Amino acid sequence: MGVIKPFSFELPTRIEFGAGVSSSVADVLKEMGKQRPLVVTDAGLMDAGIFDRVREHLERGGIRFEVFSSVEPNPKDVNVMEGASAAKEFGADCLIAIGGGSPIDCAKGIGIIATHGGKIRDYEGRNAVRSDTLPMIAIPTTSGTGSEVTFSSVITDTAERFKFSIRHPRLAARVALCDPELTASMPPMLTAATGMDALVHAIEGFTAVPAEPIADACALHAIEIIVNFLPRAVRSGEDMEARAGMLIGSVLAGISFSHSDVAAIHCIAEALGGMYDAPHGMCNAVALAPVMEFNMPYCVERYSRVAAAMGHSFKTAEEGAEKAVEHVAKLTREVGLPSFRLLGVREEDMEIIAENSAKNGSNSSNPRPMGKKEYLELLRKMG
Ligand SMILES: [Fe+2]
Repeated sequence: MGVIKPFSFELPTRIEFGAGVSSSVADVLKEMGKQRPLVVTDAGLMDAGIFDRVREHLERGGIRFEVFSSVEPNPKDVNVMEGASAAKEFGADCLIAIGGGSPIDCAKGIGIIATHGGKIRDYEGRNAVRSDTLPMIAIPTTSGTGSEVTFSSVITDTAERFKFSIRHPRLAARVALCDPELTASMPPMLTAATGMDALVHAIEGFTAVPAEPIADACALHAIEIIVNFLPRAVRSGEDMEARAGMLIGSVLAGISFSHSDVAAIHCIAEALGGMYDAPHGMCNAVALAPVMEFNMPYCVERYSRVAAAMGHSFKTAEEGAEKAVEHVAKLTREVGLPSFRLLGVREEDMEIIAENSAKNGSNSSNPRPMGKKEYLELLRKMG
């Protein structure tokens, strides 16, 4: 294991987990001493009736709220600004984010602008949020993002078609209401893509340069759970054991990468997402096996421990690491996600994708040092 490097660990989010816990939302607000929440969600969740289930609990609790449901997939800077205006207009004293990563990440941005002003890109990086933002309750409806427990928000700069991250423990939700029942209506493709995002969070959290023992423990347990339950959750959405497993797997993976980091897989996924507005989980899935292969010489031992968490036995670390890569490639196909080739990345876009990957704030966390040249080499190999 080697000498443990100094690290710090904090988790400002209280996690309430279990079937039906979202019904406690009004009580949680009262405990927080808050009474005017802005609900941040998206049109898909409104149409699917998921928001109505939470609305009922808010109304029964006598809470006055306003709804902002214009969050787009891969949340945009403009969504954040519009949501912040809605929060100010309503006089919101807190936020309730309901959804996958997009509404939760967008709500984090809204909380910053509503309290600090300016433009959202002003807060890019790790230390630009200097005081508390609007307190937030996060209610995840997918099992993948981990945003309900992470310190980060990923927003698309629409002018540059570039996804940037804002990170600070101040962005963390005050309370996460993790209710597996809310994830049961996800269709198979969304279950697959978000689930692969969670798996990538765990694998990158475990192998990124800033990895530390608590993040490691969360990551390895997340890997074990996710590889076990993801195929079941994709095959049978009503399998509540699998749904609960995926949700806690996603929470554990979120805690892991939030305290460690993500790395080259996310750098590529975010570059692709910013360029093509493609689903984040799918972008991660297509990059997962090729990046692991590319990183292999730099983290054989760690990848073999990933394989052990997946349930493999092996004689040498090299053999284990190979098994981990084979497993993720097979899992990607099994859950019906495409290969990088099928995503249709244009040859003329490769340069800019490589450049944006190298520019990503998590690039330096990849176990193998990467620059634009290495990304380009890897992308050409993948394409
Ligand atoms: Fe992610």
